[in-house]
Amino acid sequence: MTRDLLVMDRVIKRFGGLKAVGGDAGLSFAVPEGTFLGLIGPNGAGKSTTFNLISGVLKPDSGAVVLDGVDLSRARAPQIAALGLGRTFQTPRAFSSLSVLDNVIVGADNSGETIGSAVFGRWRADERALRDKAAAVLARVGLADRVADCVGNLSGGELRMLEVARQLVRDPKILLLDEPTAGVDPSLQAKLSRILVDLHAEGRTLIVVEHNLHFLLQIADSVVVLQNGQLLSKGTPSEIKADEKVITAYLGTEHAA
Ligand SMILES: Nc1ncnc2c1ncn2[C@@H]1O[C@H](COP(=O)(O)OP(=O)(O)OP(=O)(O)O)[C@@H](O)[C@H]1O
Ligand SMILES: [Mg+2]
Repeated sequence: MTRDLLVMDRVIKRFGGLKAVGGDAGLSFAVPEGTFLGLIGPNGAGKSTTFNLISGVLKPDSGAVVLDGVDLSRARAPQIAALGLGRTFQTPRAFSSLSVLDNVIVGADNSGETIGSAVFGRWRADERALRDKAAAVLARVGLADRVADCVGNLSGGELRMLEVARQLVRDPKILLLDEPTAGVDPSLQAKLSRILVDLHAEGRTLIVVEHNLHFLLQIADSVVVLQNGQLLSKGTPSEIKADEKVITAYLGTEHAA
C-alpha cells in the first residue's frame, strides 16, 4: 500500500459566514504519494481555497490538513517549507523588474544571502550551478530563448510556464498547479502535458486544478470533483466522465464517456 502524502480530514474553511470549503461535514480526501490528482469543479467550488489550505497559506476553521505526516495548523513556516511543496497561483506572480532567468534563480533559494548575490551578480560556484539549473528548467518549459528577457515582455502563457519553471527548479516532492493552461497556446500546452507526465513518472505527487478537462483527464490518474466546497465525486478519469452526478453538475453531456 502506498502511504498517503496528503490527508484532508473534515476540513471546513469559511470566509465571513460563507462556507468556501467543507460545507457542514467538512471536506475529506486522501492523496497517496505519487498520485497525479486532477481537482475540478465549477467556478467558486473551492479549488483555489483548497490549494491555499494545502500549502498552509490558510488555516482551516476546523478539521486538519496533514501533509507528509505534518498537521499544517500546528506547523511553523520553516517546517512547512521543508516539506518540499511547490505551487503556482491562478494569477501568475513574478518579479517584474528581474529577468526571466533571475526570476527562476530567486525562486530556487530562499536564503537572503544567495538571492542578493545572485541578483547582483556575485556568483559563487554553487550559484553557477543554480544558474545552470535555472537555465535547464527554462529550456524544459520552452523558454530557452527568453532567459535574458525582462519578465514584462512575456506573454500570459509564457508567464505561466515561468511559474512552472520557478517551482521545478526547487525539485518539489508535491506540486500544486492552479489552472496552468489558462492563456497558454496549444504548443506550450503540449509541452506542459509532457512535463507533467514526466514528473508523475519520476514519482512526484501532482495536484492540478483545471477547467481544461480535455488536457487534464488525459494525464491525471485520479480526480476529485468539488461542488460548493464539498466532495461531489472521486475516481479515475473514466469513472468521473461516466458519473451522472458529475455530468449533471459540471461536465455536461459532451464529456460523458
Ligand atoms: N479571500 C476570500 N475572501 C472571501 N471569500 C473568498 C475568498 N477566497 C475565496 N472566496 C470565496 O470562496 C469560494 C471558493 O472560492 P475559490 O476561489 O476557492 O473557488 P475556485 O473553485 O478556485 O473557483 P474558480 O474556478 O473560479 O477559480 C467562492 O465563493 C469565493 O468567492
Ligand atoms: Mg480558483
